[in-house]
Amino acid sequence: MGKFRFLLVGILCYVGLFCKADFKIGEGRFQKNGIPYTIKAAELHYPRIPYPYWEQRIKMVKALGMNTICLYVFWNVHENNPDEFNFEGQNYLRRFIELCRDNELDVILRPGPYVCAEWEMGGLPWWLLKNKDIGLRENDPRFLERVEKFVSETARQVGDLTVDNGGPIIMIQVENEYGSYATDKAYVSNIRNILKKYFGDKVPMFQCDWSSNFLNNGLDDLLWTMNFGTGVDIDSQFLELKKVRPESPLMCSEFWSGWFDKWGANHETRPAQVMVEGIDEMLSKNISFSLYMTHGGTNWGHWAGANSPGYAPDVTSYDYNAPISESGHPTEKFQLLREIMNKHNDGMVLPDIPELIQPIELPEFQFREVAPLAINMPDSIYTEDIRTMEEFDCGFGSIIYSTMLPEVKGEAILTITEPHDYAQVFLNDSLVAVLDRRKGDKTVNLKEIENKSRLDILVEAMGRINFGRAIKDFKGITQDVTIEYQDSTGVRKVILKGWQVYLIEDKESTYQNMNFVPVNTIEKGYDGRLPRGVYRTTFHVDEPSDTFLDFSSWGKGLVYVNGYPLGRIWHIGPQQTLYMPGCWLRTGENEILVFDILGPKEALSRGYKEHIIDCLNIEEENMHENIDVTGIQTISEGTFKDAKGWQSVMFDNPSTGRFLCLEALDSYNNKDIAAISELYLLDNDGNRLSREKWRSIYTDSEDKNNNRTGDKVYDLQESTYWQTEPDKSYPHYIVIDLAEEVSVTGMEYLPCQETDIPGSIKNYKLYLTEKSPVQ
Ligand code: GLA
Repeated sequence: MGKFRFLLVGILCYVGLFCKADFKIGEGRFQKNGIPYTIKAAELHYPRIPYPYWEQRIKMVKALGMNTICLYVFWNVHENNPDEFNFEGQNYLRRFIELCRDNELDVILRPGPYVCAEWEMGGLPWWLLKNKDIGLRENDPRFLERVEKFVSETARQVGDLTVDNGGPIIMIQVENEYGSYATDKAYVSNIRNILKKYFGDKVPMFQCDWSSNFLNNGLDDLLWTMNFGTGVDIDSQFLELKKVRPESPLMCSEFWSGWFDKWGANHETRPAQVMVEGIDEMLSKNISFSLYMTHGGTNWGHWAGANSPGYAPDVTSYDYNAPISESGHPTEKFQLLREIMNKHNDGMVLPDIPELIQPIELPEFQFREVAPLAINMPDSIYTEDIRTMEEFDCGFGSIIYSTMLPEVKGEAILTITEPHDYAQVFLNDSLVAVLDRRKGDKTVNLKEIENKSRLDILVEAMGRINFGRAIKDFKGITQDVTIEYQDSTGVRKVILKGWQVYLIEDKESTYQNMNFVPVNTIEKGYDGRLPRGVYRTTFHVDEPSDTFLDFSSWGKGLVYVNGYPLGRIWHIGPQQTLYMPGCWLRTGENEILVFDILGPKEALSRGYKEHIIDCLNIEEENMHENIDVTGIQTISEGTFKDAKGWQSVMFDNPSTGRFLCLEALDSYNNKDIAAISELYLLDNDGNRLSREKWRSIYTDSEDKNNNRTGDKVYDLQESTYWQTEPDKSYPHYIVIDLAEEVSVTGMEYLPCQETDIPGSIKNYKLYLTEKSPVQ
């Protein structure tokens, strides 16, 4: 028996050493070592998990019965400055992949260069914007040259870990959902060529897209996979693919377990049961998948991105309503998923759940020191015209623009074009306005301006947009500041010039180097808040472990503990606590530093055992009350088809106007609910009009609790939708301010994609007016 075991081990070692695992995109199925194979992948992002916890999370994934880990490579964490590459510590990509391999998991590598992922600028480094006119994700040689350097460096780190070299990387993704950005096969081919040049042409490569647009950029020599979310009709997602490539293995390369959270909106959830039913269905049909996210983790520091159209910055937590919580614990979704995965595990027992890190409580502690911003201004730089933060060689943080105003008797309008992203406007040191990019704020009405008045504009940059055409997202003030007023010569509009600029770059040393005074020597001021500035103290920990630090009494800013950037805070929620990994705490005193651009109401915190990520703290917006379309001519009336997928309607005559109103008269299932996933208008050439400036200004009803608000019809995401509440009856209305007068010839409409959601609209009327029909 002993001899036999020895022989068996010997054979296995031989096989492991000399017979490289063989993975192929076969006919109809993937093939691993010659056997049909289904990829069961979990999406995990190494920069979103503290390095010491990587293996715990990987083992959690193992316990779910997954066989692969799918991961992006985040260019901007590896190349903070041009040509300065960092693949160490939290960026130790190779180690992460080796840990997957050591836990017998394959790896799907998604090196972008663009990754989306609710990450600052979709993973692209901000310094690309120092070339103001650079073409991102395009065949601009300045872009491609940088991409090539990044890919070559990544391949130098992990290129030998591909399957053809005996490593765990079984597939590599080319670009990311390029179909929702542009149609440009030449560009996608260039990215593929760069990847092949450095990773070789033996490792299988693929591209992922949506079922509605994958053909736009599909390259002949790549596998095509689909991305879609919980609740959709899975067969219909592969319908087109099966027509054009009947022999292709089927894979959902991103099956969205939940969704990401934005500041000022409710925490997103997706039903656990519906998610596991989707996984069950795919496994029964041998459809491979990657569960995005299986564990979301955290957007540390300033790395959270933002969505557009409009501007919707993401919160620090990337909980994603995923099966494994932000701190690595199993959720209800995890348990249900484990049962389903167990069913499809060829009778083998799933590995045990690894040891969990038990959270601790920390008693309340007060901040002892403050460095008020007003007495800690850095040296200024002079500029005649407004310039962006990037033009001052600064990627992250806040910037103050200061200039003198002309004397004005009477009213004046200040217009800031455009404040990115949160501006506080001061006249002679008094706060006169807050301009929040999320709301499209740009103007300030001033009553009178005394002689020698100073204007200061403090602009805080949040995450750069990571999705859609708006990823070229400059920070600070992007164009100019004008003042409009009346004097003896008539109405004057002047571009303000001659600015002193102060940069507060987001890095810990900026804050540490300020001059601190005891908090108890400082009075509260505006809004019952302590001054804007940096707060510092230490807190005691007996036995380090994970905890959730409370910031509900703070304003808006960034937090560091023991030098680790924990992320952004903002009192509006829904996130009120920050995940504090125990591995970054020490026994004894720990230093915490908060930069608060509003100032806290109370400068204190404490550690909870539970995370608070679903607590909104905002006042209801003034929604318009009434709509009146009587007497208004429709530009189109008709009946939508009772079908999933895109529909287009051409109007009888071209029409012009600025306010679009869709009146939904009834539904296909006689239920009162209406739901729309996406809506486009077509211009005179039949092309889709840009929706970047659109704003939903009225809906007769919207399910706010589930974030199914009117803006979802133009948010570029086919998986999110506007939906009315169950107790409101037809007709339903949505009104969109298109921001300018447009000429239109037709529209494209996508009903909600989820199978169980009622709300498919039947008859409709469409209006396009010069004046808003809402009062
Ligand atoms: C797309 C992108 C991902 C992520 C998800 C939404 O599928 O490819 O990077 O942004 O949307 O979470």
